[in-house]
Amino acid sequence: MTAAPKGLEGVVAAETEMSFIDGEKGILEYVGIAIDDLARNSSFEETVFLLWNRKLPTKSELAAFSADLRKRYALPGDMKQRISTLPKTAQPMHVLRTMVSMLSLFDPDPNANDAASAREKALNILGYAPTIVAYFDRHRKGLPLIDPDPKLSFAANFLYMLNGEHPTPTMERAFDACMILHADHGLNNSTFTTRVVISTLSDVYSAISAAIGSLRGPLHGGANEGVMKMLNEIPSVGDVRRVVEDKLARKDKIMGFGHRVYKNYDPRATYLKTLAKKLAEDTGNVSLYEKSHAIEQIMEEKVAAKGIYPNVDFYSATTYHCIGLQLDLFTPMFALSRISGWAGHMLEQLEGNRLYRPKAEYTGPHGVAYTAIEKR
Ligand code: SDX
Repeated sequence: MTAAPKGLEGVVAAETEMSFIDGEKGILEYVGIAIDDLARNSSFEETVFLLWNRKLPTKSELAAFSADLRKRYALPGDMKQRISTLPKTAQPMHVLRTMVSMLSLFDPDPNANDAASAREKALNILGYAPTIVAYFDRHRKGLPLIDPDPKLSFAANFLYMLNGEHPTPTMERAFDACMILHADHGLNNSTFTTRVVISTLSDVYSAISAAIGSLRGPLHGGANEGVMKMLNEIPSVGDVRRVVEDKLARKDKIMGFGHRVYKNYDPRATYLKTLAKKLAEDTGNVSLYEKSHAIEQIMEEKVAAKGIYPNVDFYSATTYHCIGLQLDLFTPMFALSRISGWAGHMLEQLEGNRLYRPKAEYTGPHGVAYTAIEKR
């Protein structure tokens, strides 16, 4: 038996109609539409409709979908009070994973995973998740919790609950574009996790909580926080070369670079670079962008030949910082968006489910006699 490549590299483990990636050419499409077109022209609500229904909505369909999502901003039961009792030192990704799991305790039928029930629960989690993150951030800062405003878009409502004021149109648009860019991306680790869990016909809460756990990892969604930590470590643009070369010499991975599939520029990074530059100029964070650009230039010189380019996490760090988000909220932002992709793949998996159960190559001994403990 030949073992699959390590990390299942190159192994096709599912079919999907949602996102197409050409890693060599650096192409990403959602249901055939180029990601750059969507980031420039669509909204996160419209993008979720596209991913879940495989078509762009009409005006009335979008209005109905947005209204349905906004009804699910407010948390059920006494979840709000429970968030107010959490340790203020808890990490936001652990809070999100825990509270999404806790949502199942308030659901009278938590295990229902027929298509309609799974979609309903997924839409609930998509609506609740921003409220969970914003409530916790206000709680840990000792600020009054701001209840969601169903008159606001997904992007505006989150920033409003977080900051206590409505975002500027520029910040709302920037955050909305980030949500579009992070929504879905083929069979990445957290999406694969979702499909693996739901393939046992387990429940939506277990599948999404598991995916949040996967996304937190620094090799996956946690990289955007790693990028920000790296940028904060570098005193000035003049120090970039030394820091990057030292890291490469130690075989450290440069956060925000490299990708299992893209061996070219991640098309999401293309858009985020432009957005990061504009926001940095608008918010007095030009040095952040300049350091990022300098890192990119040195990495191009050193490792582009190995197909290592900026990925989605590299410029999203500067973008999130300029939007005013605290560093440890960066990965939760990735999760708020990717819940839509995870849910879409969960629904696809349920349409034609077969339990995921690969094999392992046994490399241990055979025929070993049992030795009584007295003789060990
Ligand atoms: C996301 O899968 C997805 O689609 C994920 C994602 C999504 O939308 O869901 O796109 C989001 O997770 C983006 C990736 C974020 N992670 C990071 O930025 C962390 C830093 N990147 C690396 O850890 C790495 O590039 C991975 C994990 C992303 C991919 O790793 P692979 O495919 O397992 O490649 P590898 O680790 O085997 O590296 C191959 C070579 C090695 O050199 P050699 O030993 O062959 O000499 O490339 C080198 C690596 O050292 N390399 C890097 C590097 N990434 C790979 N060297 C320096 N810095 C890096 N970032």
